[in-house]
Amino acid sequence: MEPVIAVSNLDKTFPVANEDFFALQNIDLQFAPGEFSGIVGPSGSGKTTLLNIMGSLDKATNGKVYFMGDEITSLSAKESAQLRSRKIGFIFQTYNLLPVYTVYENLELPLILLGMSTADKKQAIMESLEWVGLTDKVNSKPAQLSGGQCQRVAIARAMVKKPTVILADEPTANLDSENSHIILKTMKKINDASGSTFIFSTHDDKVIGYLKRKITLVDGGIQQDETF
Ligand SMILES: Nc1ncnc2c1ncn2[C@@H]1O[C@H](COP(=O)(O)OP(=O)(O)OP(=O)(O)O)[C@@H](O)[C@H]1O
Ligand SMILES: [Mg+2]
Repeated sequence: MEPVIAVSNLDKTFPVANEDFFALQNIDLQFAPGEFSGIVGPSGSGKTTLLNIMGSLDKATNGKVYFMGDEITSLSAKESAQLRSRKIGFIFQTYNLLPVYTVYENLELPLILLGMSTADKKQAIMESLEWVGLTDKVNSKPAQLSGGQCQRVAIARAMVKKPTVILADEPTANLDSENSHIILKTMKKINDASGSTFIFSTHDDKVIGYLKRKITLVDGGIQQDETF
């Protein structure tokens, strides 16, 4: 099966004190459709950098990135934005919900970019909120929700356009143990039912127990790639 995302010979350097610092070096990875995979490793090992490059939020210095077989390394900013808006859902550590908008409006935003009808938007939004068990909060604003509920809204927002892949950067970092398990179970349920590919970064042991594949990064290189 064609990989959803493939990374070949990837380096990412940042200029630091007149030298190139290798945040990622010589990364080769492929993610098959429907994977539930985690990138783990200590702080500074390159997890966020790698997710951002795979999600076309950032560019590699060397090497190639393919999305569903298409090379995305040299897309323009506008083409990258289009790819993200159609095919990729992001979940962030700090939820990134817009505080002045209701839950409904937060979920509507990614759909406006796709030009959907009001009725289709409503159906997609309510379906997504059902997935995460929050239909009763549709008119609430983020400040009226708990941290766990905010992260469930963020999952619903990532899911609402039915993306090919969901990239989640430390999705449980701000949550207590109970909410972390709820979030993981919710994502696993969506992964099983929809076949969307999930790729996380994490150093949370609670997350690691749910993974089907664990990729360990150390100092910008892959140290281990295990499938369970
Ligand atoms: N814009 C930048 N300029 C210079 N160095 C950077 C930049 N962004 C990241 N780095 C460096 O690249 C390395 C990888 O950073 P990255 O944020 O990917 O790590 P991480 O594994 O996500 O860490 P954490 O677990 O703390 O989130 C770090 O050493 C970081 O200091
Ligand atoms: Mg990070």
